[in-house]
Order: sequence, then C-alpha cells, then structure tokens
Amino acid sequence: MDPVAMPGDQAVDRHLLVVFGATGDLFSQKLAPALYHLARHFRLGGTFHVLGVSRSPIDDKTFQARTREAIEQASLGQMPITMTEPGPSGWCDRMVHYHSLTTGGLPGLKERIEALEQEHGLDGNRVFYLALPPAAFGPTVQGLGAVGLSHSPGWTRLVVEKPFGVDLESAMTLNSTLHESFDESQIYRIDHYLGKATVQNLLVFRFANPLFESVWNRDRISSVQITVAEDKGIGARAGYYDRSGAVRDMVQNHLTQVLSLVAMEPPVSFGAEAIRDEKVKVLQSIRPLTPDDVVLGQYTSGLLEGRNVPGYLEEPGVAKDSTTASFAALRVFVDSWRWQGVPFYLRTGKRMPTRLTQIAVRFREPPVPLFESFDRSRHKGNVLFVRLQPHEGFDLLFDVQVPSDPPELATKPLSFAYEEAFGELPDAYETLLYDIMNGDRTLFVRSDEVEQAWRLYQPLLRSGFRPAPYPAGTWGPQEAEELLSGEPDGWMVRLTDLDQPAT
Ligand code: BG6
Repeated sequence: MDPVAMPGDQAVDRHLLVVFGATGDLFSQKLAPALYHLARHFRLGGTFHVLGVSRSPIDDKTFQARTREAIEQASLGQMPITMTEPGPSGWCDRMVHYHSLTTGGLPGLKERIEALEQEHGLDGNRVFYLALPPAAFGPTVQGLGAVGLSHSPGWTRLVVEKPFGVDLESAMTLNSTLHESFDESQIYRIDHYLGKATVQNLLVFRFANPLFESVWNRDRISSVQITVAEDKGIGARAGYYDRSGAVRDMVQNHLTQVLSLVAMEPPVSFGAEAIRDEKVKVLQSIRPLTPDDVVLGQYTSGLLEGRNVPGYLEEPGVAKDSTTASFAALRVFVDSWRWQGVPFYLRTGKRMPTRLTQIAVRFREPPVPLFESFDRSRHKGNVLFVRLQPHEGFDLLFDVQVPSDPPELATKPLSFAYEEAFGELPDAYETLLYDIMNGDRTLFVRSDEVEQAWRLYQPLLRSGFRPAPYPAGTWGPQEAEELLSGEPDGWMVRLTDLDQPAT
C-alpha cells in the first residue's frame, strides 16, 4: 500500500501555535491528537511549539499532562504512530506550554509569547487559533489587535472555526471585526469538511480526469444529490443546537461547500484565490429558494440500532415547544450555462439510520432506448456515488448484459476504495493544521463565500417554516421523499457491506 502523504511538500517555518480555549473539547479531542500526529508521523516535531491559553489558573505541567492524556485517549484503537521516541510524554514536555489569562491578560500573553520565541528561536512566526465559543471571537480579535499581536516580526495567522455568524448581518459584523485587526490574507476560516481528504479529492477527480469533466454538465447529468446523514442526536449540545438547527449547523456551511466543489467551473490555476473565486461564482448563480424547494424536519422518538431513542423535544435542554429543525432537504438550481435545469438535492439530518456523507450524480438515460425489450428490472442507469465518509471511495454504476435467456440488463459498480489503496486517511484537522502552518488557504473559507452562503439561506431562516416530524432511525419526513417525486429512484445512498443501517 502507498503511504498517505500530506498535501504539499513544503518546509514548514518554525513557529508558535497559540491556542485560545485550550482547556476545551476542541483542543483535547481534535487539535492535540492532530498536532501530535503531525509532529511525530510527519516529522514536523522540531518545527512548532504549542502555547495553550485560557482563563484556567493551571500551570504548564498540568496542561502537558492533560494534553498527553488527550493524545493517548485519541490514539486508542487508531493507526499506531510510527516513530517511537519521544512518545506523547516527551513531546508534550518539550513542545507544549500553557499561559493563563489571569496572569496579566493579553499584555501578559504578549510577554510570554516573546519570551518563548526567544528561548526557542521561533523567528516571530505565529498562529492564533480561536478554539472558543463564537461570542468570544470578536472581543479576542480586538484584544489581539489592541496589544499589537496582529502583526509580528515574522508572519501572523488567525484561525477561526465555524459558525461564522448566525445570519448575514452577524457574519458581516464578524468579518469587519476581523478585518479591523487582520488582513483577509492572514485569516483561516475552518469548515472541517474541506479538510476531509475525499472532499478535497473532488477537485482532482473532476479536473485531473477529462473523462468525467467532459460529461460534467446539463447535457449528460440529470440530477445531483448530496446527503449528509448522522445517526446521533443532539446529545448535550441543546444550548447551541436549539438556536441553530440543521440549516445553520450543516447546510449553510458543510453541504454548501460540497455543492460548490461539485458545481464549480475549472479554476485558472490550482491556487487558493482561483479556486475560491470559482466557488463564490457557484453561490452567486444559485436561484433564490422557494417554499416548494424546502422540507424541514424534527425527529420524534424511534428505534435506532435496536434501542429506543428520545425525540428532539425530549432531549435535555430543548424547549418543549421548539420548532428547531434537525433535518433539512432542499432542491437547489444553479443558474449557470453548465447546470441550467439540473436539480441539486441537499439533505442532512440527525438521528437518521446511519452516519454517511455521499454524493450521487445521476447521468441521463441513452437518447434512444435500444434495450427496451430486455428485462430491465435490475437496471438503474449510470450513477456515480462519491462516498465522502465512511468507507471513502467511488462507485460508478453501469449496465451490463446478464448472460441469460431471455436477455436481461443489470447494473453493476466499478469501485474504488481509499483504504484499500492508501490505508487510513489523515484526519481533517491534520490536513487543515498542516495547511495553516504552510500558509496554504485553499481549504479555508473566504469572507465573501461566508456572506454569499448566508445570503442564500437568509430568507429560509426568516420564514418561520415549521418542521415536519420524522421518527428517529428513518431518512426524514415523507415530505422529503415527495421533493424528489420526479426522480426515478428517489433519494439514493449506497450502503457498503460494512454499513449497518438500523432500519
Ligand atoms: C459540525 C456540526 O460542524 O459537524 C455537528 O456542528 C455535526 O452538528 C458535525 O455533527 C458533523 O461532522 P462530521 O465530520 O462528523 O461529519
């Protein structure tokens, strides 16, 4: 098997990665394991130091111990890290530091940063990663600007995580706050879907393979479906989720990003701005949604993997009369020359039968039906399934003649599986952190993309649309099936032998 390489092969400048909110879940569950993996497996260990920052009055030793535990916890059952010395403990002791904001606030942090840079010869290159609740983004960025931390003797980069606002207005306010202290070229907005290897590979799949790109248009494609299904409910996140719902949480960002990559024109180069320009053009070409194009849903109690799970309204912290949607299905038209008249169906929901993200591209039927006299009951036509997670890969369905009498058509797949070819794929956060360290902004969301995406869904968010109920463990409300009434097979997902849907 070929080893999975990280994108690019540049040397990473020596730098300090400052993580605000370092005592939170994002750092322990995602960032710490990803950083350690980059340090050890990808041999960047001597390149960067990590400075965790939060209000907790703990010392370096305590933070190092917590970071080590987080890395060990995340590594359980994972691919073993190939280098043996030093393990998480040695790496944390040497490379991980902590600063409490109770020690002199941001001016105190600035002194600590400068001291660490001097001690470790870090050339003044800095990443500020805001692993913070969204409400803290603005004040933190203003504070960094006020103490002169938005620029440095080397380069300075700022990382913010979705959600980027809760609507167009708040997104614009956030963007202008960021721009008061940082230039857009310093800002890395993370939508972690763009870090998934299979999502990035959509560009390679389309633009390195003329075979597909030549049929990637309204003449050959009749519809596109994007499904992001989750079997989990909202868990303990009611405080956030009940104010957000599926459109803000998933559609405006993750699904819209995937849609942009599927629908965009070839960029003039493989550079960040060229690619992002094309993605924005897709968003600008999307026809305003009408009420007939949208179905929202909310799960009720149901059976999932053989056990009863509560409905959305019974989840802890959810208002008993909440009208927040945990499911959304949309029909979107991209009014461009390439896509005129081709519906793009987007669907996402919590408490669906299984966790999967897939794209299904349906190609048109032959213009002349030569095989009408054959038994076509096992025929589905040409469909390309792109499995973004899990079991990442592709299946291209095509028709073959079954050796039978009378003759019969059956649809069979040509398949490719990443894991078979390359082994385990890197975690999205490894890819994104590596790109931040390299100054590659291709996989990060630009301010105009964020605003254009909010513009699209703004009318829907304001419409007071009420969600239809669907039992947990199903694929959403019946109304979502009706949205595809003109499509030959309705919603399509391809379950591999490894998928175990509960229903
Ligand atoms: C997050 C959403 O952005 O993405 C969550 O806030 C969702 O609600 C998650 O569960 C899904 O991400 P993934 O990588 O598990 O598909």
